[in-house]
Amino acid sequence: MSKPSESQMHTAIVGSGFIGRAWAISFARAGANVRLWDQADGAAHKAIDYISGVLEDLAQNDLLNGQTPATVLARISAANTLDEALAEATHVQENTPEVLDVKIKVFQMLDAAARPDAVLSSSTSALLPSRFTEGLKGRGRCIVVHPINPPYLIPAAEVVPAPWTTPETVERTRKFLISAGHAPLVMKKELDGFIMNRMQGALLEEAFRLVADGYASVEDVDTGIRDGLALRWSFMGPFETIDLNAPGGIRDYCERYQGIYSNIFPQMQRRVDWAGEVMDTIEPDRRKLLPADKLQDRQVWRDKRLMALAAHKRRAAKEIGK
Ligand SMILES: NC(=O)c1ccc[n+]([C@@H]2O[C@H](COP(=O)([O-])OP(=O)(O)OC[C@H]3O[C@@H](n4cnc5c(N)ncnc54)[C@H](O)[C@@H]3O)[C@@H](O)[C@H]2O)c1
Repeated sequence: MSKPSESQMHTAIVGSGFIGRAWAISFARAGANVRLWDQADGAAHKAIDYISGVLEDLAQNDLLNGQTPATVLARISAANTLDEALAEATHVQENTPEVLDVKIKVFQMLDAAARPDAVLSSSTSALLPSRFTEGLKGRGRCIVVHPINPPYLIPAAEVVPAPWTTPETVERTRKFLISAGHAPLVMKKELDGFIMNRMQGALLEEAFRLVADGYASVEDVDTGIRDGLALRWSFMGPFETIDLNAPGGIRDYCERYQGIYSNIFPQMQRRVDWAGEVMDTIEPDRRKLLPADKLQDRQVWRDKRLMALAAHKRRAAKEIGK
C-alpha cells in the first residue's frame, strides 16, 4: 500500500457490504485513505476483491479522474479490528444492516473508539439519526449521509442532522462530500424518508394508482418516465424544469399551470396497497417484459447503462456547462 501523505484524508468504512464497499471506491477515488472493517470474517477482503473488478470498469469509462485502478486500490485496506480501522479516521461511514438495535450498538462502539475529531456518519436508508445517537457523549458529531446505490456512480447523498448535530459537523460533512465528487443535499432537520424517498414515494404511489384504477399499463407508466420526464430530470431538477417551461420563469409557470394540478390533487389522495390486488396485474406484466430468470442479467445491463450515463454527464458538464 502506498504511504499516505500528511495532508491525506483518512476514512473508515464500518460494514463492507453493498454500500460500504461502494463508498470505499468513492472516497479512495477522491484521494482518501480508506480502512474497511466488517464484523464477518473475511468480508472486508472479499469487498476489496469486488472493488478491484469495479475499478477496472470505472477506468474503462474514464471515471477514475485519470488515475489507474492500482493507484486507487492502493488507498484501500482491510483492518483486523475496529480500533485499527478507526485509528486515523476523521470521517467514519457506518454501513451495517438497517436494524435499529444494530445501529444503536455500532454507534456506541464508534463513539467510544473513534478519534475525538472524527465525524460519525451513517448510511441508513430510513432511520432518523435521533433514534440511534441520542444517548451518546459525542452525539453532536453524529449525522446521516444517505447515498443512492452505487455512490461511486450517483453523486447525490442526503446529509441529515439529528437535532443535536453541530453545525460544524454538518459543514465538515458537506465539504468532504463535495471534495469526493458528491452532490450533498443538506437537510435543515430530520424527517421520515429524507428528501429523495419522499419524492420517489409520491411518484410510485401515483404510478400504482394509475394502474390500479385501470387508466394506464405498467409499460406506459415506465415509458412516460424513461422516454419522457426523466430525460430532463437526468440533468435538472423539477424546480429548474418549470423555471424554464414558461417565458417568465417559475412564477409565470405557476400562474399559468397550477390550475391543472390543483384540479387533480383531490383525485390523488386515496392510498393504494402496492402489494395488494394491483400486483396481480403489475407482476405478470413485468414478467412478460422481463422473465424472472433474466432479472440478474438486466441488473448488469442497468449498471452498464448507469456507468455510460455517468461518463456522459461528466463529459457534457465539461463541454456544455453544468
Ligand atoms: N443497498 C442499498 O441500495 C442501500 C442504499 C442506501 C443506503 N443503504 C443502507 O446502507 C446500510 C448497509 O446496507 P447494505 O445494502 O450495504 O447491507 P449489506 O447486508 O450488503 O451489508 C451489511 C454489512 O454489515 C456487516 N455487519 C453486520 N453487523 C455488523 C456490525 N455490528 N459491525 C460491523 N459490520 C457489521 C455485515 O457482515 C455486512 O457485510 C443499511 O443501513 C442500508 O439501509 C443501502
